[in-house]
Amino acid sequence: MLITFEGIDGAGKSTQVKKLKKYLMEKGHDVITLREPGGTVVAEKIRDLLLESKHDITPVGELLLFSASRAELVQNVILPELKRNKVVILDRFYDSTTAYQGYGRGLELQLLQQINAIASFGLQPDCTFFLDISPEDALIRKFSEKSLPLAFEESELDRMESSGLAFYQKVRKGYMKLLENNERFVLLNAGDEPQAIHDRIIQKLASLCKNTASTEPAKNRKQ
Ligand code: TYD
Repeated sequence: MLITFEGIDGAGKSTQVKKLKKYLMEKGHDVITLREPGGTVVAEKIRDLLLESKHDITPVGELLLFSASRAELVQNVILPELKRNKVVILDRFYDSTTAYQGYGRGLELQLLQQINAIASFGLQPDCTFFLDISPEDALIRKFSEKSLPLAFEESELDRMESSGLAFYQKVRKGYMKLLENNERFVLLNAGDEPQAIHDRIIQKLASLCKNTASTEPAKNRKQ
């Protein structure tokens, strides 16, 4: 089973990923958590290029780098782990590309769909939890976590985070578009208590497993 988490930076995805992993492991599942970009030696190098470098990267270059990192992770790690019947929890997947490079950077959505399909080898998540937060609140949260004053130094932000509030508004709107008419997504209010969010996630997964009558849909799922 492949479960993905999405949301703008600072939405609290990593807290929920940790909580879910702990819960599922206590239930006896074999669980692996991963995050994009990264997860293999090559993908981690691409991550450094994408996030740490202060050099400009063109929108298409950015798209291809995120996609290259994804292809490495999917082929080398995710597909083999799914074959071993592991539950894979993934912090970001191709919906991030659609939201950030498509709606955020303005790249053509049809082109993105094709590249997303290539980079993910057609793999689709069973369920995607979208944690919604306004970019303003996300920024406040980020800085309080890092104990930084809001009058921050630009250098405290990674390359993506330096894209500005207007960019994040577009990304958030993009996610909302993705959610429309897509049953795979579950909308969660990132402002709720972490435990309440976790409880909803568990509820949703329980009903999903009931509906599919299995926690191992990977083999039969349309890829
Ligand atoms: P990361 O430090 O992992 O942030 P977060 O905790 O918010 O996930 O940084 C990943 C950044 O890369 C984040 O700003 C979102 C962005 N991103 C894209 O723009 N496109 C993508 O396809 C992916 C996977 C991430």
